[in-house]
Amino acid sequence: MNTMKKLTLGASGLQVPVVAVGCMRITGLDAAAAARFIGTALELGLNFFDHADIYGDGECERFFAEAAQMSPSLRGKFFIQSKCGIRKGVCYDFSKEHILRSVDGILSRLRTDYLDVLLLHRPDALMEPDEVAAAFDALAASGKVRAFGVSNQTPGTMELLRRSLRQPIVANQLQLSITNASLIERSLNMNMTDGPAVDRDGGTLDYCRLNGITVQPWSPLRHVVDHRVLAEPVVETEGLSVKLAEMSEKYSADPTAIAIAWLLRHPAGMMPVVGTTNEGRLRSAAKAAEIVLSREDWYALYLAAAHRLP
Ligand SMILES: NC(=O)c1ccc[n+]([C@@H]2O[C@H](COP(=O)([O-])OP(=O)(O)OC[C@H]3O[C@@H](n4cnc5c(N)ncnc54)[C@H](OP(=O)(O)O)[C@@H]3O)[C@@H](O)[C@H]2O)c1
Repeated sequence: MNTMKKLTLGASGLQVPVVAVGCMRITGLDAAAAARFIGTALELGLNFFDHADIYGDGECERFFAEAAQMSPSLRGKFFIQSKCGIRKGVCYDFSKEHILRSVDGILSRLRTDYLDVLLLHRPDALMEPDEVAAAFDALAASGKVRAFGVSNQTPGTMELLRRSLRQPIVANQLQLSITNASLIERSLNMNMTDGPAVDRDGGTLDYCRLNGITVQPWSPLRHVVDHRVLAEPVVETEGLSVKLAEMSEKYSADPTAIAIAWLLRHPAGMMPVVGTTNEGRLRSAAKAAEIVLSREDWYALYLAAAHRLP
């Protein structure tokens, strides 16, 4: 039996693993490798899978269901989250009609009759909160969706929605990693004139904490890889790669695990969505759940990633 650490997803009551498995890149595997990958994730206790209707234009959901051999008897082993609201190359669309149609497509591709969580993918400037509420009511009443959340939303947009919604917003999925931590850096430097004080997110992390909304950092590794701090060859000879190596030694875990543990250490109760298709890196992500970085080490990594303190 695995001992994967869990958190309660917002106000949903769902006990889910602290790390989610993102499926945006899953079609990069062949069918057999994808089946193995999903099996390994389940063995590790990483049974929360993140999708979106636009990943591979729906192909990622279809491919996942096929690889997982999804059936009513297996469905209970999985938490499945998907997103809608982006009509690729056309517009963003939070209309009732679009949300309902999207969920029907998602359920059919995933071979299931319910989603554990539905997220609104990116804000729609033409959003009518009452229409979203009507869509969520219909989806909740029909049992097609158990919990609802958002992604890439500011406190203002969430407030606007919450005034109409009868269901709680349980999650906000946001771009965040140790090398891309403006959500954290901004509030630390809120009144500095020469630092990264520009507030583009309106205190999103604090808002989520105040309102019991689980933060799901997306791309927790990709920017770390782009900075050549994790990928081979490592070009950085000082700074973050050195600090990650030092922490790897101290916590007996590899740098990938440390980069994810850095997010997990944040008291917002984060649930990073890892996008790897590599089983070794999946194991590192699971290992991260066992690590609790000290306050000093968390700040040392923050500074090594060239973030500022006043
Ligand atoms: N809500 C949104 O707007 C939004 C946007 C984007 C993504 N997402 C979600 O977030 C999930 C994760 O995003 P992401 O895929 O960008 O996550 P990520 O975990 O930051 O990046 C994964 C990518 O980085 C590569 N990588 C990681 N460590 C590496 C290393 N040490 N060396 C070389 N390559 C390495 C992975 O390759 P390997 O496969 O070889 O490990 C994979 O291509 C997605 O699957 C999706 O579910 C949400």
